[in-house]
Amino acid sequence: MTTERKPEFFKGAQLRVAIIGCGYVGLPLALRFAEAGHRVTGFDTDPDKVSMLNAGRSYIQHIPQNKIQQYVHSRHFGATTDFAKLKEADAILICVPTPLDERREPDLSYVERTAFSIYPHLQKGQLVILESTTYPGTTEELVLPILEKSGMRCPIASGTENEDISCDFWLAFSPEREDPGNKQFGLAQIPKVVGGLNPPSGRAAQALYAQVVARVIPVSSTRAAEMVKLLENIFRCVNIAMVNELKQLCLRIGIDIWEVIDAAATKPFGFMPFYPGPGLGGHCIPVDPYYLSWKAREYDFATRFIELAGEVNTAMPYHVADAVSGALNDRQKSMKGSKLLVLGVAYKKDVDDLRESPTLKIMQLLQQRGAVVDYNDPYFPQLHKMRHYNYENMKSVPLEPKTLAGYDAVVIATDHSSYDYFGIVEAAKLVVDTRNATRRVLRHREKIVLC
Ligand SMILES: NC(=O)c1ccc[n+]([C@@H]2O[C@H](COP(=O)([O-])OP(=O)(O)OC[C@H]3O[C@@H](n4cnc5c(N)ncnc54)[C@H](O)[C@@H]3O)[C@@H](O)[C@H]2O)c1
Repeated sequence: MTTERKPEFFKGAQLRVAIIGCGYVGLPLALRFAEAGHRVTGFDTDPDKVSMLNAGRSYIQHIPQNKIQQYVHSRHFGATTDFAKLKEADAILICVPTPLDERREPDLSYVERTAFSIYPHLQKGQLVILESTTYPGTTEELVLPILEKSGMRCPIASGTENEDISCDFWLAFSPEREDPGNKQFGLAQIPKVVGGLNPPSGRAAQALYAQVVARVIPVSSTRAAEMVKLLENIFRCVNIAMVNELKQLCLRIGIDIWEVIDAAATKPFGFMPFYPGPGLGGHCIPVDPYYLSWKAREYDFATRFIELAGEVNTAMPYHVADAVSGALNDRQKSMKGSKLLVLGVAYKKDVDDLRESPTLKIMQLLQQRGAVVDYNDPYFPQLHKMRHYNYENMKSVPLEPKTLAGYDAVVIATDHSSYDYFGIVEAAKLVVDTRNATRRVLRHREKIVLC
């Protein structure tokens, strides 16, 4: 590999791009680079995923199988578990998980392990970019020292005087903004924020991404880029908590919060609608803010908005369980012994992802209070044992009028588009709706309890 490489090299065609972690973020990114004509290798520690990808099969519902097949066939995409092949790459993009551990503290072990698997193979002139969501400082404090064990250097520097500072390899951070299931904005349309460890690293990463996204937004450092992602997710988390709290107040006063939000959203400036629900779910919003809270402690700083939002959002499944209890009580029934059907286990509509889904907590609470609980979800024919829940042997119940009528209450937890809400309300005895999914159903409103 040349030692004379310039950052502008990454404007070139047919680059060899390595993507580490072929999950919800890494796989679409890999396919986008393949689509742009680059030669992409996906690296993953899970040999089953690697075999499936090489056989042209998808394991994520919204990622089309035919795209994988097309690029495997044209040799623009292949997957491997052999990290020695990182040597052959021009750019290495890290998309591994960044979860919380049992104490709800950042678990950076995946990023750390990945950096350790890169450094023995690191080559001069390679560009390494971390995409995993994390606290400000991770690229500099965790990834850089491990990569520099290779004996090569990438100095932390900024300013015009360092425009052409000499680097053996380049290092940058660029947060992923993937929104699974969003049909309006795909990866190619979403602007990408990029921060380099030094100016040449920033230019190299900008040149690379400019080939696959509509717009690249450079920021001055990896820390700023890391913070951008957290700001975006904390903004969502705090605003969702606020509407969840206001929903509970509106329910008590007898005001329809959804009507209020829709009316407020007609204001052409200064307002952005957020919608209440049964609690927070997904891989990002319930997790990422705590990366910042944790880092803030190092600076004797309390992130009170994050803590408060967490408190409100975590309480939402309890609010739903109370609402189900109250609705049954109004019909002279107790929770204990009631037969309940919960609709939607995915954390949001139209996705096959149940990570951190509030439905899992709601079902647990209903069971703990003595209800007999079934579920339906077109994306999950059956459930399994999870870290915090045991739903082994549970199977999705088919949605037929006769079946629906057999339950004391139907709880709408996730508002999948494929559900026939008119039919559900028609057939069910009682519907507890956490998402206002039944807003267009005008008949039998007396059966519907919004919560
Ligand atoms: N899912 C989203 O919508 C989303 C959106 C924006 C950002 N993110 C962030 O992107 C990162 C990845 O998230 P994801 O949803 O793609 O996770 P994921 O669990 O879907 O995928 C991660 C992949 O990495 C693989 N992996 C784990 N350890 C590895 C290692 N040491 N080497 C190689 N492969 C390894 C896993 O087998 C898996 O295939 C996280 O930091 C997440 O916060 C996710």
